[in-house]
Amino acid sequence: MTVTDVLGSGQKPAVSVVGIGVEYPPSKQGPEFAEALALRHYDPTPALQKTLEINRKSRIEYRYSVLDPDHEYWHQHQVPTIRECDVIFKQYGIPLAVDACNKAIEDWGGLPAEITHVVAVTCTNTSNPGFDGPVCQRLGLRNNTRRVLLHGVGCGGGLAAIRVAQEMLLGATQQGKPARALIISCELPTIFTRTELDSMSKEQRPNVALGLFGDCAAALVLSNGIGVKREERVPIWDVLNCETTHLEGSEGLGEYKIGPNGYVAKIDKKIPLVIGQSIQGGFTNLVTSTPGVASETSNYNPGIYDWAFHPGGYAFLLAAQTVLGLSSYNLRKAFEAYSDGGNTVSSTVISILNRLKKERESGVKDEEQQGDRFTSGKGADKVIAVAFGHGLTMEMIMFSKLAPPATA
Ligand SMILES: CC(C)(COP(=O)(O)OP(=O)(O)OC[C@H]1O[C@@H](n2cnc3c(N)ncnc32)[C@H](O)[C@@H]1OP(=O)(O)O)[C@@H](O)C(=O)NCCC(=O)NCCS
Repeated sequence: MTVTDVLGSGQKPAVSVVGIGVEYPPSKQGPEFAEALALRHYDPTPALQKTLEINRKSRIEYRYSVLDPDHEYWHQHQVPTIRECDVIFKQYGIPLAVDACNKAIEDWGGLPAEITHVVAVTCTNTSNPGFDGPVCQRLGLRNNTRRVLLHGVGCGGGLAAIRVAQEMLLGATQQGKPARALIISCELPTIFTRTELDSMSKEQRPNVALGLFGDCAAALVLSNGIGVKREERVPIWDVLNCETTHLEGSEGLGEYKIGPNGYVAKIDKKIPLVIGQSIQGGFTNLVTSTPGVASETSNYNPGIYDWAFHPGGYAFLLAAQTVLGLSSYNLRKAFEAYSDGGNTVSSTVISILNRLKKERESGVKDEEQQGDRFTSGKGADKVIAVAFGHGLTMEMIMFSKLAPPATA
């Protein structure tokens, strides 16, 4: 059986986003929380004072943690070991991921047993077996669901997972088989806050991580469009193209270093500069390599897209505005996710996509912003998602919203 036999002539094989779910944990922390924590355990040396100044100026209103303010983690004298952090991840991260997945599955409308593939990602846990196994069991997925767990890809992991799943689903399309993939991202960087502070104290160097990271789990269902049942929702976006590239000369700038007390972020000051130097080339390459998009001159204007741009820090969004000429409207949901949640590692872009989807579903048409470039509801026809992983690696995906059915 060929793809044409399955889909009919004239229809291109596509992978679509058909469900999204995002779960932030309940404990909400303003910048004053990190400040009180730091001063509870350490003297206000110049390095700590600088760290706290950066924390105050992050422009993040709230971050979320799986650990409430009374949890002994924040108060105990001893910095937790990586083994203790692993226990915390399993206790809180697995249920958080299950909740996000259930939301995504409910949004999609299919049954857990119909999920054929899982691509999970985290950089805040290293246990073997990985966290994805228990999550899939609790969701009731079949034992022979094809699972992979990505690690070592940092904030780029959400988009890397979509890229990997897209390739898997197109493989199933080639064989004429129905396929549905569940993407699972679960990141709990706050369980290493004590480790970050301890490292800052030992090295007496300012640490921006204290003010940036928050916890979140996010999930997404992808479909190859074969054997769609009535209960399954209409696709939100088609995945038009995924590109990934290692950024030359960026080695050692961004790392998440493992030690006896867990992970410590190494975040070089040059990262926003390197990102600024890379995004125009990445954008042009994405447009040029996307069939059906490359030939239209207007598609080379970054301003026609909505941008799910990973806010690694506020400076990332400023770089996107300066280099690509984007307005705060183009980046509105990236700014919103940054302000309300901070940098939640690989789950951040999925949270931004979820915010764009919800805005679109609210159905309010904003004539002033939309002009005639848009088909329906709020938001641009196409969305570009961008995220940067350790290495540094740049991941970019172009999504396209489907035109609404013609009305008589
Ligand atoms: C952290 C951040 C939000 C602070 O915003 P800001 O206060 O407007 O930023 P500035 O660039 O003006 O820096 C403020 C101070 O922080 C210092 N700083 C910035 N980045 C730093 C870093 N990575 N490490 C140590 N210090 C840093 C600056 O040197 C400056 O110090 P100074 O006042 O003594 O000159 C912003 O610098 C940012 O977004 N950085 C990118 C973070 C990043 O790479 N994230 C990736 C995580 S995976």
